Amino acid sequence: MGHEDAYLGMAAVPLDDLMCGEGIVEKLANTSCPIHDLLRRRWSPRAFANRPVEPEKLCSLLEAARWAPSSYNEQPWAYLLATREQPVEFARLLSVLVEGNVVWAQHAPVLMLSLARLNFERNGKPNRHAFHDVGLASENLIIQATAMGLAAHQMAGFHVDKAREVFNIPEGWEPTAAIALGYRGEAESLPEPLRARELAPRTRKPLEQFVFTGRWGQVAPLVAHAQAANHQTTG
Ligand SMILES: Cc1cc2nc3c(=O)[nH]c(=O)nc-3n(C[C@H](O)[C@H](O)[C@H](O)COP(=O)(O)O)c2cc1C
Repeated sequence: MGHEDAYLGMAAVPLDDLMCGEGIVEKLANTSCPIHDLLRRRWSPRAFANRPVEPEKLCSLLEAARWAPSSYNEQPWAYLLATREQPVEFARLLSVLVEGNVVWAQHAPVLMLSLARLNFERNGKPNRHAFHDVGLASENLIIQATAMGLAAHQMAGFHVDKAREVFNIPEGWEPTAAIALGYRGEAESLPEPLRARELAPRTRKPLEQFVFTGRWGQVAPLVAHAQAANHQTTG
């Protein structure tokens, strides 16, 4: 085990727990330059195993979120959380999801809803980075989950007003994204067309489409050179 692995908290996870068993899809990102293995392995499944998530692992995920950076260290995030062992609370979270997400998210062992505080606690002024910072916290949580053999699927598809009402969310807090989380399940457990989507390759825009230098739309030379080199090596 190298220093880097220990640093990333991988040391405590037996390799077998991170390997995908039969029927469980591994969708490694096809990258143009190397990236960290955790980032390569993270993806958003809809199939979850019928296996609870250990409370201490959940605690680690939330701790990872806690240590995200934020503008003025405001930490403008909150999470509503329910596990399937809390049937009433789980049903409450499920009830705010749109039908298309309920179909598969009902089988996840853990549901969450992230929230953003839109004004600074110190002076009440608008915090225009609140959503950005909640996203950072959630990505921390999800990468930690990936390191522990878990997977998460975020959802914009939920009823915001219903969430406000059901959870009595105070003024100034904005429901941001729902999250389904657990151990990966088998794609075969999903109905079509979700099964096909589960097996479909992951896609991304190329770097040239979003990394610019000098002016908007001018591809950064760094990226242009990297892509050219990549095309040469990959044929
Ligand atoms: C904020 C956010 C909202 C999303 N909303 C939904 C959703 O409502 N339903 C869904 O099935 N997937 C949803 N997704 C998942 C995305 O479709 C997915 O992340 C994207 O296709 C990239 O795939 P990957 O995460 O597997 O790399 C959402 C993702 C994010 C980050």
